Amino acid sequence: MSKRTVLTGITTTGSPHLGNYVGAIKPAIEASHNADVQSCYFLADYHALIKCREPEVVHQSTLEIAATWIALGLDTDKAIFYRQSDIPEITELTWLLTCTTAKGLMNRAHAYKAAVQENVKAGADPDYAVAMGLFSYPILMAADILMFNANQVPVGRDQVQHLEMARDIGQRFNHHFGEFFILPEAVVDDNVAVLPGRDGRKMSKSYNNTIPLWLPEKKLRKSIMKIVTNSLEPGEPKQTADSALFAIYSAFASPAQRSEMEQAYADGIGWGDAKQQCFELINNELETARATYEELIAQPAKIETSLLEGAERAREISRPFMQQLRNAVGIRPLG
Ligand code: TRP
Repeated sequence: MSKRTVLTGITTTGSPHLGNYVGAIKPAIEASHNADVQSCYFLADYHALIKCREPEVVHQSTLEIAATWIALGLDTDKAIFYRQSDIPEITELTWLLTCTTAKGLMNRAHAYKAAVQENVKAGADPDYAVAMGLFSYPILMAADILMFNANQVPVGRDQVQHLEMARDIGQRFNHHFGEFFILPEAVVDDNVAVLPGRDGRKMSKSYNNTIPLWLPEKKLRKSIMKIVTNSLEPGEPKQTADSALFAIYSAFASPAQRSEMEQAYADGIGWGDAKQQCFELINNELETARATYEELIAQPAKIETSLLEGAERAREISRPFMQQLRNAVGIRPLG
């Protein structure tokens, strides 16, 4: 009973890339093997709708991300792995929380403020193209977290504010209606390096510098060959500090491999050789899972079944809890 609940959501827009793998998926799957932890991992498809109006993208991305987690070894008997939209209690809770959340709190959300600022800069109406979904995004996220009384929520730095808001939102509800919610804690792992993309900036879809996770071998090699380096020739000593290639290599290397590569840079390894080694290292790590991924993605019905099973387990928690919450706010049978 004293198990900690660790919960995190993955927005289903786009295809997983190496940055997602190193920064989020791999550590989460490793953490899920910890016996002291109940992990809840979910596909945040309602969050996807906030940024994406392309149904096929949302749908395909849901499939790819689900297949990715399973192919990489998430034990879906231990971890509860589900799709947000399969849990109707989450949207119900979102409304209850919407009714107690101060609008002023939402005004301060970074994502909303950034959209407004851009409009102002462009001389447009401050709320131009700002949907209510974007504005209330943190409330939906709070519902995701509070529904399962998560203790810890592993997230990237950009999400820390949302966790603070989830605490505020939970606290306010507790204050009005009783101590229902545990206040969650953001866990930002500083040891998990932010993976640079091919151009050296953070690997991100919005910079168009990603290396997709499941490229077939030849394409993976090609993509790694395109990592930007400088014009130093083979034989000339090279710096590791400013090298995206080195950072990407390091994210997959053992400490010993890493120091060997450091030495190789100092000894003037050619960029082509360094890239080849980087490719081999990454390809080795992903090869087996890639075959599993390809099998899975060809059987979407199997993934669907697994997600529905996960949802059923999640709802064993959310259904009775929602009942209590409805009761607390006065939504009760009359008889
Ligand atoms: N908003 C998060 C992101 O964009 C995804 C997310 C949705 C999430 N709900 C969550 C993360 C609940 C942690 C907990 O990365």
